[in-house]
Amino acid sequence: MKAVVYKKPFEVAVETVDDPKIKHPNDVIVKITSSCICGSDLHMYEGRTAAEPGIVFGHENMGVIEETGSAVKNLSVGDRVVMPFNVACGFCKNCQRGYTGFCTTVNPGFAGGAYGYVAMGPWVGGQAEYMQVPFADFNCLPLPKGDQFEADFSLLADIFPTGYHGAELADVSPGESVAVFGAGPVGLMAAYSSVIRGAAEVYCIDHVQERLDKAASIGAIPINFDDGNPVEQIRDIRNDTGVDKGIDAVGYQAAAQGSSAAGGEQEEVPNVVLNQMIDVVKPTGMMGIPGLYVPSDPGGVNESAKSGALLLNFGKLFEKGLRLGTGQCNVKKYNAYLRDLIIAEKASPSFVVSHEVSIDEAPDAYTKFDQRVDGYTKVILHP
Ligand SMILES: NC(=O)c1ccc[n+]([C@@H]2O[C@H](COP(=O)([O-])OP(=O)(O)OC[C@H]3O[C@@H](n4cnc5c(N)ncnc54)[C@H](O)[C@@H]3O)[C@@H](O)[C@H]2O)c1
Ligand SMILES: [Zn+2]
Ligand SMILES: [Zn+2]
Repeated sequence: MKAVVYKKPFEVAVETVDDPKIKHPNDVIVKITSSCICGSDLHMYEGRTAAEPGIVFGHENMGVIEETGSAVKNLSVGDRVVMPFNVACGFCKNCQRGYTGFCTTVNPGFAGGAYGYVAMGPWVGGQAEYMQVPFADFNCLPLPKGDQFEADFSLLADIFPTGYHGAELADVSPGESVAVFGAGPVGLMAAYSSVIRGAAEVYCIDHVQERLDKAASIGAIPINFDDGNPVEQIRDIRNDTGVDKGIDAVGYQAAAQGSSAAGGEQEEVPNVVLNQMIDVVKPTGMMGIPGLYVPSDPGGVNESAKSGALLLNFGKLFEKGLRLGTGQCNVKKYNAYLRDLIIAEKASPSFVVSHEVSIDEAPDAYTKFDQRVDGYTKVILHP
């Protein structure tokens, strides 16, 4: 089958790889209809992780079941399904408590597994024609048959639940003000989720105009950090007060003010967003941090950044009594509810999707998404 294979920093290729096989009676094989490119893929694409050449990318996958193992109970050939990017068993202690992003079964020696991701276990990615799904009864979320809401549903694999998770970690509640750092797909979904949860005012901070325009389209207030410190811009609008809640949807590859927007070229300040969030959130407020931070970054800007150690204004955080939550999204906690909001037409997250292309165009799509040019905000690949 065809698959998107990582070759070296800034290069992927569409190559022929082995077809996946049922390896356990509770596996299914899914014929992929949509697989999205994620900002998390870019960390690997840019060589900013330990990902080795040869890995097949793709953790945001949906499709139709092609084959079922003999022990699969609730799924049949022909069912339309979307899989959380987390691979999870459903029965370990963490899964039992809803922390499916920290499953201890699927990636021995580590808490957490994913498809097509470095250090996340042996699970081959779905930017391909077919994909093996283990513990399939647990990992497949059934969808209505047909092709309605394809783009909306594909976002249930990661970014819609992950954005929602950011809002949940910050406990965004009706009437609150929220600052969302990053208007990439995750930030836009965090802003959208904040709106769904009843926030009164949502600020979206970025410096890519097309992304800020998308934020404005859902009623958020765009803040361009190239125009000046975003904390001061928000304080100016809010008569000197900060906001109730903050969400970091940028992560460790945060760009300096005025530097390039392109992923491989920007000047980075890995702690800038965390410290700005500590600055802008009001005392007793909360911060959700779905943005990715890594314990090992070969391209880190200095020695401490290379080991994920960042300088934080912890004194300010203490003084203000702020609380924070971070980590992988436990997609399974939210995906069925968010699916039902889509079916009820109360949520249409696909406003973030800018491009839908054939898998053959993946190399070009990766380049443009990484460069953040031509409006490339969220790309769906169709095998
Ligand atoms: N926790 C999880 O489970 C999970 C899941 C998916 C993605 N992620 C992570 O979430 C982050 C966002 O993902 P994405 O797909 O939206 O990525 P993305 O790279 O498309 O978006 C990041 C955005 O942040 C903006 N940005 C850069 N520096 C900034 C700064 N100083 N202030 C404000 N904005 C800034 C960029 O211009 C870009 O638009 C990534 O780190 C990704 O790895 C985490
Ligand atoms: Zn993703
Ligand atoms: Zn588990």
